[in-house]
Amino acid sequence: MKPNRILFACLMAIAMAFTTRCTDDNKGNGEPTLYTRLGGIDVISKVTDKFLTNVVADDMINTRFEATVGNHYRLQVLRNNLIDQICAGTGGPCQYKGQTMLEAHTGMKISAAEFSALMADLAAALDFCEVAEREKNDLLTILTPMESDIVDK
Ligand code: HEM
Repeated sequence: MKPNRILFACLMAIAMAFTTRCTDDNKGNGEPTLYTRLGGIDVISKVTDKFLTNVVADDMINTRFEATVGNHYRLQVLRNNLIDQICAGTGGPCQYKGQTMLEAHTGMKISAAEFSALMADLAAALDFCEVAEREKNDLLTILTPMESDIVDK
């Protein structure tokens, strides 16, 4: 091969490597992260807003959030923590800075039925935002194991 062809082949290889790295957000395993598949921060923020609206309308659990909803600052903190938690937990570029799930829910004596109600409110928000079934199930699968740190504590 002529030297300029070798140089061209090298440049193409470098360009392709960077294209994959910079556009695919695949953490090196060939599969886009769940964060990317969900639609990134924009969709996660919209899902979180609809989720909180659903929780406030849900008679099974809304009394739990009365103090939060009644305080604008506290509601914003919860909203931001939820967005960061989902973003970070799905491989996105955020950092969750809130309490652990055990710390945040200890003393609340949340029941398994309340946990299910909240998860149904989240599932409904994902449906409302037309998140595909696979991504919806992947997110719920990440959050479901948190039940042991949240229920009956
Ligand atoms: C997988 C399910 C759940 C997740 C991912 C979750 C997530 C969170 C997060 C991130 C916080 C904020 C922690 C902080 O401020 O440092 C929080 C607080 C809280 N959670 Fe949960 N939670 C879940 C289930 C539940 C359930 C089932 C209930 C009650 C029915 C509940 C009630 C609350 C309340 C009342 C707060 C305090 C909000 C405030 O500080 O004003 N959570 N949760």
